[in-house]
Amino acid sequence: MDSIWIKGGQRLEGKIPISGAKNAALTLLPCALLTDEKLTLGNLPRLADVDSFGHLLNQLGVSTMIEGVKKGEIGRRMTLQAAEIASTIAPYDMVRKMRASILVLGPMLARAGEATVSLPGGCAIGDRPIDLHLQALEALGADIEHAAGYVKASAPKGRLAGGDFSFPVVSVGATENALMAAVLAKGRSQLFNAAREPEIVDLCNLLVAMGGQIEGIGSGHLIIDGVEGLHGTAYEVMPDRIEAGSYACAAGITGGSIDLIGARPDDMLAITNALAHAGLIVEFHDKGIKVSADGKLKPLALSTAPFPGFPTDMQAQFMAMLSLAEGESFLEETIFENRYMHVPELRRMGANIEVRGRSALVHGVEGLTGAAVMATDLRASMSLVLAGLAADAETEVLRVYHLDRGYERLEEKLSAVGATIERRTSG
Ligand code: EPZ
Repeated sequence: MDSIWIKGGQRLEGKIPISGAKNAALTLLPCALLTDEKLTLGNLPRLADVDSFGHLLNQLGVSTMIEGVKKGEIGRRMTLQAAEIASTIAPYDMVRKMRASILVLGPMLARAGEATVSLPGGCAIGDRPIDLHLQALEALGADIEHAAGYVKASAPKGRLAGGDFSFPVVSVGATENALMAAVLAKGRSQLFNAAREPEIVDLCNLLVAMGGQIEGIGSGHLIIDGVEGLHGTAYEVMPDRIEAGSYACAAGITGGSIDLIGARPDDMLAITNALAHAGLIVEFHDKGIKVSADGKLKPLALSTAPFPGFPTDMQAQFMAMLSLAEGESFLEETIFENRYMHVPELRRMGANIEVRGRSALVHGVEGLTGAAVMATDLRASMSLVLAGLAADAETEVLRVYHLDRGYERLEEKLSAVGATIERRTSG
């Protein structure tokens, strides 16, 4: 079991290259199922979840070929081809390990007329149901059956008709599944109250590049006119706005200055606004975004919301940073029901945080103390790394496999800006 060991107290300064976005890659990869031609994705992050998704696609009959990282690039290039679908079943052991596997449901249904996917089950941050995915697919004409922990979706007459669906709750994954199903349906589909995250825009842009017809890209009202078939293409995955925001918090919590190379301002305005309100200097330039501390951190009131609001995936990282602000910060987690798993561990490092339901009150303290802490989920793990970077003495973050799911070469990137950090393998 690997762990990350950090000796805190260094002011971080320098450039960090931002990798391709995990949450874009995980919805672009299944698009390979929508055509029998080659799909080449560039700027793919080197992450456990991307590898796992590739293995799942292999099981469905998709060939995948990874090219090495080319000089001057930081992402990998993968060429995928689903010449034919060998299986339409996403098994429990794959879906259990990675919830995003559910994103093969829509494209498999669209391409093969049927799909059987294990129910993903919950995870550390919440129950994570998929009822909205299923309701949306039914609205497009799918028949849905449940049996033994699996969901079987099928298209009467082998092809979805298309239809309209209004999401009662904004859902990134359900919007993605609906888009990938609608793009090959017989008629027109409209999605209302659809998610507007930049990763959804990336998906729409890829589908259009493959020959899909989508209007309203970037808005909550998407209009998709189904086509007979899609062709292959080459596409670059967008930069990871959450990785960029996480390293911006590393600058804030250590009183440093980090240049986030490749970060895209339009993806991150709610994050950069919050950083500026916390007293950091945010400079947009042609190669990315430079974030610098400028004296003590100021407290904030933050409520997570679907894009373009403040992202839930940044809540834990801001909480770590605000634990050293001058005064009290108020955080509200409106998206997931259990996304404060980092709080007990931050408290063990000296943070003063009160949680009541979905709200948290963060009383700023003078300093944090290093400790051995347990990672529970991806973004909680990053908040512990951030706290460790600022804490005096040493911090060891255990169960670091959580981090490897979403942060490529974390210790390498942080060492390059002055952190004393290393990965330790035990047992
Ligand atoms: C995506 O998860 C991201 N994962 C999450 O990032 C992110 O936190 C989340 O969107 C919100 O932005 C990937 O893209 C792989 P949702 P997703 O459907 O699609 C409820 C990370 O750290 N809901 O937008 O699963 C759900 O329970 C991860 O990178 C239903 O009720 O999120 C939640 O309360 C964590 N029924 C809310 O909607 C459904 O059918 C938003 O979930 C689906 C969702």
